[in-house]
Amino acid sequence: MEKFAFIIHPLDIEDVGRKFGPLKYLPGPILEGILKMIPPLKVSHITGVRSETGAEAEGWFVGCSLTAKQMLSLPEDQVLAKIIKTAQLAAELGAKIVGLGAFTSVVGDGGITVAKHTPIAVTTGNSYTVYTALEGVRYAANLFELDLERAHVAIIGATGSIGSACARILAPDVKFMTLIGRNQNKLQRLSELILTESGLACKVSLEPNSAISSADIVITVTSAVEGVVDAHALKPGAIVCDVARPRDISKQVAESRDDVLVFEGGVVQVPGDVDFNFNFGFPPGTSYACMAETMLLALEGRYENFSLGKELSLERVREIGQLAQKHGFKLAGLRSFERALDESAILAIRDRIPQKRVSKLA
Ligand SMILES: NC(=O)c1ccc[n+]([C@@H]2O[C@H](COP(=O)([O-])OP(=O)(O)OC[C@H]3O[C@@H](n4cnc5c(N)ncnc54)[C@H](OP(=O)(O)O)[C@@H]3O)[C@@H](O)[C@H]2O)c1
Repeated sequence: MEKFAFIIHPLDIEDVGRKFGPLKYLPGPILEGILKMIPPLKVSHITGVRSETGAEAEGWFVGCSLTAKQMLSLPEDQVLAKIIKTAQLAAELGAKIVGLGAFTSVVGDGGITVAKHTPIAVTTGNSYTVYTALEGVRYAANLFELDLERAHVAIIGATGSIGSACARILAPDVKFMTLIGRNQNKLQRLSELILTESGLACKVSLEPNSAISSADIVITVTSAVEGVVDAHALKPGAIVCDVARPRDISKQVAESRDDVLVFEGGVVQVPGDVDFNFNFGFPPGTSYACMAETMLLALEGRYENFSLGKELSLERVREIGQLAQKHGFKLAGLRSFERALDESAILAIRDRIPQKRVSKLA
C-alpha cells in the first residue's frame, strides 16, 4: 500500500465557520488569533484510492490552520515554519510524499524551502493542475465550437507558476494571447520567452478588466484573496476557467452573466472507491487536481519532489498527464460554484450568445 498526505487550510474566515459551526460567532480578528495558535493536525484518513493498474494508496489530509490572507500577510518565515511542521506531521503519519494545497504552495518559493526541511518528498500539485485546466479549456472550446487557432486567450496571473505554464503550453495553438499580471518586467520576460519558444507575440497588461474585453478564453489563476474580474469586463460568449482558490471570479459576477461559461479548473475523478472522510465541497470520488497529483505519484511509487518552485517543467506537465491516463484519473466534467455543468448546461450557455449580441445591438 502506497502512502501520501495532502496539506489543506481554510481559504478564508467564513470557511472556518462553515467547517466548525460554533466558531463562526467569534469576531474575525479573534478567530484569526486562535488559528495562528492551533498546531498542525490530522484532519482525516483517505482510503480506497485504487489505480487501474491495481496499485493502491491511502493517505491523510493534514491541516495548517491559517487562511489565505494570513499566509500572505504574516511574516513569511512564520508561515513557512507552520507549513513545514504540517509536512513533518504527514511524515510521522507514514506518508512518503506530501502535496501542498492552495496557498501552502503560493507562499515563499513554491515549496522549495518546505522540501528542504521535510523528510519526505514534496509536490505542489501544480503540474497536474495545469494539465487539467487546459483539458477543461479545450473541452469547453470544443463544445462552444470555438477554433483555438483563431481564438484570443487571456491569462490573468500569467507570471505565476500555474499561469506561466498554461501560457507557454497554449501559445503555439492560439492566434492571440494577452498576459496579465502585476509586474511589467516579469510580464515582459514571459512574453519574450513565449516569442522564442512558439513565435507568438503576446500583449502584456497590468489591467485585467480592460485586457480581457475581447478575450474568447480567460484563464485566471492569481494569488489574489479577492475577485479580480468585474462582470461587465467579459466578452459575451467568453469561456472562463478559474483555477484560483480563493476564486478570482466571484459568484455574483458569474451569476450576473448568463452568456459566459465560468468553470473551475482542475476537478478530477479519482479511480477506485475513494473516501476522503472530509467534505471539501466536491462530489464523492472527485478531488482537486493538485491532490490528484500527490495520489498519482504515490501510486507510481515516485517519491520525489515532482512540481516545485515557481517555474514548472512543461515536460513534467505532459508526464503527469500520461501518468493520469495510466492510473485512470480523468477530468470530472466541468463544475461551477459547487454545481456540475453537464453538456446540455454548457450548450445552453452557448445558445444564449447570439441573442445577447442581437439585444446589445438593439
Ligand atoms: N484548482 C486547483 O487544483 C489549484 C491547485 C494549485 C493552486 N491553485 C490556486 O492557483 C492560484 C495560483 O497558484 P500559483 O501556484 O500559480 O501561485 P503563484 O505562483 O504565486 O502565482 C500567482 C500569480 O498571481 C499574480 N497576482 C497576485 N495577485 C494579483 C492581482 N491582484 N492581480 C493580478 N495578478 C495577481 C501574481 O503576480 P506577481 O508575479 O506579481 O506576484 C502571480 O503571477 C492560487 O489561488 C492557488 O490557491 C489551485
